[in-house]
Amino acid sequence: MSTTPIDATTTAAWHELSQHRDALRPDLREWFASDPDRAQRLTRTAGDLHVDLSKNVVTDEILGLLVQLAEQVDLGGRTEAMFRGDHINVTEDRAVLHTALRRPEGAEPRLTVDGQDVDADVQAELAKVCAFAEQVRSGAWTGVTGAPVKTVVNIGIGGSDLGPVMAYEALKPYAGDIELRFVSNIDPTDVAETIADLDPTTTLFIVASKTFGTLETLTNARLAREWLWETLAAADAIENTDASRTAAVAKHFVAVSTALDKVEAFGIDPTNAFGFWDWVGGRYSVPSAIGTSLAIAIGPERFREFLAGFHTMDEHFRTTPFHQNVPVLMGMLNVWYVNFMDAHTHAVLPYAQHLHRFPAYLQQLTMESNGKSVRWDGSPVTTATGEVFWGEPGTNGQHAFYQLIHQGTRLIPADFIAVATPAHPLRDGEADVHELFLANFFAQTKALAFGKTADEVRAEGTAEEVVSARVFEGNRPTTSIMAPALTPSVLGQLIALYEHITFVEGIVWGLDSFDQWGVELGKKLATEIAPAVGGDTAAIEAQDPSTRGLIEYYRANRK
Ligand code: F6P
Repeated sequence: MSTTPIDATTTAAWHELSQHRDALRPDLREWFASDPDRAQRLTRTAGDLHVDLSKNVVTDEILGLLVQLAEQVDLGGRTEAMFRGDHINVTEDRAVLHTALRRPEGAEPRLTVDGQDVDADVQAELAKVCAFAEQVRSGAWTGVTGAPVKTVVNIGIGGSDLGPVMAYEALKPYAGDIELRFVSNIDPTDVAETIADLDPTTTLFIVASKTFGTLETLTNARLAREWLWETLAAADAIENTDASRTAAVAKHFVAVSTALDKVEAFGIDPTNAFGFWDWVGGRYSVPSAIGTSLAIAIGPERFREFLAGFHTMDEHFRTTPFHQNVPVLMGMLNVWYVNFMDAHTHAVLPYAQHLHRFPAYLQQLTMESNGKSVRWDGSPVTTATGEVFWGEPGTNGQHAFYQLIHQGTRLIPADFIAVATPAHPLRDGEADVHELFLANFFAQTKALAFGKTADEVRAEGTAEEVVSARVFEGNRPTTSIMAPALTPSVLGQLIALYEHITFVEGIVWGLDSFDQWGVELGKKLATEIAPAVGGDTAAIEAQDPSTRGLIEYYRANRK
């Protein structure tokens, strides 16, 4: 396979799409009025997801050209290369195999990559995670005093935090008695406040770090270890000896990492560590052992259902023709909005309170993957890349930022996500509250698509001078995603859907969506600046005037 990305802007499809964009007069009202089949024709199914694309600002011709563009940049070839284990993470010379984490046991043909029996290793590690989760859940795993675990604290950041915390929140109805808490930020407030009220004898820490070299995670892990030792000693649960402290760590700390040597150096027994592999990117790692905390919370059976959900979407993506393929169509629609309609951002609006961390999770997935300005061969990109993903659950967002989506000057494509069956089927008198909630979802997508004309505003008796302020242009694109319920499988399907959307966009732009060099500089500088913050005069003087001024302000005002 060529190592030079195909420049999408030189393809015939791109050229034609530009012409269609120039001629386009968006009119969703008219398109729906004159084409009663539009909604049905532009609705797709992927696994349990029902995806209505009809309120997007595209004609059938444009959608057809977007499919052609996907073909002309060899999306099919790149997809096969990913699933096969080719080193498509070029800048790190690695395979990209998060899809292997969710292959079912016994899948054929077996996946062997770079001499590694990937299937065997994945199944062995998954079995280990599940067995451990069962031990913790059953109370067979105890702390130093023999007490079972009541709270699990996952210490990690980025992909080693966002996936587990988002999924735990999403699957709360499936969680057992063990509470999960999460520490990620190096702001000492995070660890201090998260663990302050915990009983050390019933607390288990999971240090989750792919590299086991991340400053935030290792700092927080050391702080948690100190807290454990101090509070256990204060409760006379351990003696003030090295042996006693080591024994406490063995019962209260486990690790998840690809760097098991560093886990041991930290003091965690490698038999209490769960591994994964360099071909799993941090932001793609929740279906790996990084999901250990989640497996404890929801149990091994549900965790396997979660993985099966991912696999359902993987298979849909890998095998479905492009014009029926939901991740391909949604990814190509994003390309349409970014590259042809000048959209800079993309809203993800879950109408499901349990998905309240989903937009934050997607921010790392999408923006760490596609926030790039060079292609995988090192050449500059030829078009805009990487829109900003953001969002909040409905209906909270409606009372905050929807004004701008409805009537602002920016085009903001939005994905609306909801489930048919509520976690809490409450009634307010006669009213089913979930139905009121869904009515808001449907009302918003309708208003965004069809707007409100000046004549309609006038017909309500509105004074002429405020008519224009009350007009809604409409033609604001949305995709509506619905599922029967927010089960572990559906959550896996949703996550995999967005993983593949991100991949599709990255291929069109020629990106290596699996490295993240852009976060390295800041990390390195933080280490270099730390002595200056601590008062080292030479280090302070070595800073630029702005940074020096900020450090001096800090030093003068710190109480
Ligand atoms: O933010 C950069 C990054 O490397 C992410 O990609 C990753 O998820 C996060 O840091 C945490 O890394 P680790 O799991 O190695 O601690």
